[in-house]
Amino acid sequence: MKGKFIVFEGIDGSGKTTQINQLSKWLISTDLIPENNKLVITREPGGTKLGKSIRSLLLDTSIEKSPDSITELLLYAADRSQHVNEIIRPTLDQGDWVISDRFCGSTLAYQGYGRKLDINLIKDLEAIATQGIAPDITFLLDIPIEESIRRRRNRKDDRIEKEGREFLSNVSLGFQALSEDSNWKKLSAIDSKEKIISEIKSEIKKLIKNK
Ligand code: TMP
Repeated sequence: MKGKFIVFEGIDGSGKTTQINQLSKWLISTDLIPENNKLVITREPGGTKLGKSIRSLLLDTSIEKSPDSITELLLYAADRSQHVNEIIRPTLDQGDWVISDRFCGSTLAYQGYGRKLDINLIKDLEAIATQGIAPDITFLLDIPIEESIRRRRNRKDDRIEKEGREFLSNVSLGFQALSEDSNWKKLSAIDSKEKIISEIKSEIKKLIKNK
């Protein structure tokens, strides 16, 4: 039996890591994941060894010249292709579950809505990189950009985070548009952590019931 694939998306500072940790603790404590199957937590970019090198090429602020936007897009696609082939597909094929911190939605939001690259080009690359693997559910942790900036004020920005307010605002609009899809669930990331995790849990229970 094929396992479940859960993705978390959102602009930086939306609290994805906290919710992923909460969800994984809860899942492990329930019997939703079949006995003999496990849960794998991963992320993009950088979910594989090769991906970690790609991640530093993408996000390192000390690189003298930033990649141009098409190079950036191809690097995210390369990271995803390796991630799907090395981790996501084999894990799901065994019936194990995967939670990924970011997936294709991030490329559509950041490179599509943020960098204004052609959405059809992004979708073509997505099809190549994922070979049809798609999340069962994607949670968007939605946060106002002012709050994202406030939460990150004591953290060193990576290259994408340095892009500024207008870029971030476009990315956020992109995520809003993507979250209209029926496989996405938008949650307000300024609600209490307890409220957010309880909504996530009820969506996961629904997912199991319906499939
Ligand atoms: P992270 O800090 O949440 O791991 O994400 C790394 C950064 O990469 C974040 O600023 C979002 C950006 N990103 C893209 O621009 N496109 C993508 O396809 C992905 C996966 C991430």
